[in-house]
Amino acid sequence: MKAQELRQKYSEFFKSKGHAIISSSSLIPENDPTVLFTTAGMHPLVPYLMGEKHPLGKRLADVQKCIRTTDIDEVGDATHHTFFEMLGNWSLGDYFKKEAIEWSWEFLTSPEWLGLDKNRLAVSVFAGDEDAPFDEEAFDIWKGLGISEKRIARLPKKSNWWGPAGETGPCGPDTEMFYWVGSPSEIPAEFNDDNSLWVEIWNDVFMQFNKREDGQYELLAQKNVDTGMGLERTLAVLNGLDDNYKTELFINLIHKIERLSNKKYGESSEITRAMRIIADHLKAATFIMGGDKGVTPSNTDQGYVVRRLIRRAIRYGKQMGIEEESWTKEVAKIVVHDYAYVYPELPKNVNFVIERLKEEEAKFKKTLEHGLKEFNELENKRQTTDDRINGKTAFDLYQTYGFPLEMTVELAKEKGLRVDVEEFNKELEKHQELSRTASAGMFKGGLADASEESKKLHTAAHLMLAALRKVLGDHVVQKGSNITAERLRFDFSHPEKMTKEQIEKVEKIVNEAISEDLLVACDEMSLEEAKKINAMGVFESKYGERVKVYTIGEGPKIASREICGGPHVERTGELGKFKILKEESSSAGVRRIKAILE
Ligand code: SER
Repeated sequence: MKAQELRQKYSEFFKSKGHAIISSSSLIPENDPTVLFTTAGMHPLVPYLMGEKHPLGKRLADVQKCIRTTDIDEVGDATHHTFFEMLGNWSLGDYFKKEAIEWSWEFLTSPEWLGLDKNRLAVSVFAGDEDAPFDEEAFDIWKGLGISEKRIARLPKKSNWWGPAGETGPCGPDTEMFYWVGSPSEIPAEFNDDNSLWVEIWNDVFMQFNKREDGQYELLAQKNVDTGMGLERTLAVLNGLDDNYKTELFINLIHKIERLSNKKYGESSEITRAMRIIADHLKAATFIMGGDKGVTPSNTDQGYVVRRLIRRAIRYGKQMGIEEESWTKEVAKIVVHDYAYVYPELPKNVNFVIERLKEEEAKFKKTLEHGLKEFNELENKRQTTDDRINGKTAFDLYQTYGFPLEMTVELAKEKGLRVDVEEFNKELEKHQELSRTASAGMFKGGLADASEESKKLHTAAHLMLAALRKVLGDHVVQKGSNITAERLRFDFSHPEKMTKEQIEKVEKIVNEAISEDLLVACDEMSLEEAKKINAMGVFESKYGERVKVYTIGEGPKIASREICGGPHVERTGELGKFKILKEESSSAGVRRIKAILE
């Protein structure tokens, strides 16, 4: 089966069960500071899981692009990826466990749909703890479908609970489906989740809780279903492959890396792992940079993740003996080529991606040269006869020059020295502890809690975009936004620094709209109607055909009109005084504003 056939079958099946198909959201979340990336299909739907009305109804299905960095240490095996696509179906306070499980089973096993062998399937359900009881209902439904009890594992929260995507938000117990990828003659009668030949392919989450900031779980107003089926894994299984990298979604990348390195995939387990990491990381970096938000490698936020992915790929490439200058872009071109028919933003942004990769590779080369020089200097100064480079030195090289530990170890080896890796790790941990505390502060609040303050800032962001277009011109469009309870951060296209006068004008226009206490109205309409009345569309048709349009003001006093999921305040008078704190460059052609309400 081809990937596109699987995507289409999934959509068709859930359409036949009354679901509306929505398109994939951006990998960079809108208006949600609790995470850097869209880590699962549920993410862009958080407001609707919390009770907002979705314009397309209560049953939705989609194919969502996702980035998950939490699995990075597992990337290199046959089934974990940084970038992946997730097939998902959603009940927003509509159907619950019975339908979700029965439909999953029907889609997986019916010969009309995927037709997988029932005997190679096993499932797990939530075992229960102090927050929620054993999921007996799910257990009984699976049993009723004919699955033997030995193939229904009861697992704790660590395995069978999903969410929230950030620190707070919707979550709940889940039930997972596994497929045996080992030899058919060796299928165990009993399911054991420690055996990696049982591959998880689908997860049905029963989202009925909201995790609050104080760590408590409260019941949500509505019971939701969030399911996620891994496209790469399911495709491998359907094609009888025990390795996702052998599917059409990766094989061209692997072939390219084989040609670049003059090595063969499968030649040794190290080479297999390195090739998988390179393919995975460069695919993820291409998707992050190739989205419409124009993420550039940097030292903060999403840019930092991209930088790490690219540099890690380069390092593995070096290890495998890839000598060519600027080779990462060659791999990226294949990603763009292979996915262009599903994700048109990639060919649109291909030049941007290629340029960033060229720059980053050159920068990293310099870093390495610099680090090498430092290393040699340190080495010359070393007076002792000790054959050990202490961990602190290795950490300084890493911290100050970005010189990877692996490189230090390698160079040390050449000189007959060894590096105190344990001490290095201790230093690293100390450092991570610090940055974790810092980011925990940054992730506080956010629209996931739909807090009053962030709602106000969200409405202010609409007024500000309209004001920016008035002052700077119609070329200004939103490139991204991130709102906490304390401030709003807003990226928009504009080629140069704003002048002080321009900033003051924007503030004045927004504050006038606030003092007029304008009504904020929400209407549902088709995307075409929304375009006709000149609503600003943030990102294409991501909500599908029917959209919500928020209009601020009435008649001749319309201050802003945007397609948006909400939520917003009811009248602008609630906002207080709007103030721009900072205007700075975000990336090429994109400016960033930080603003508050006083
Ligand atoms: N959110 C769940 C997951 O990511 C199901 O979609 O596995």
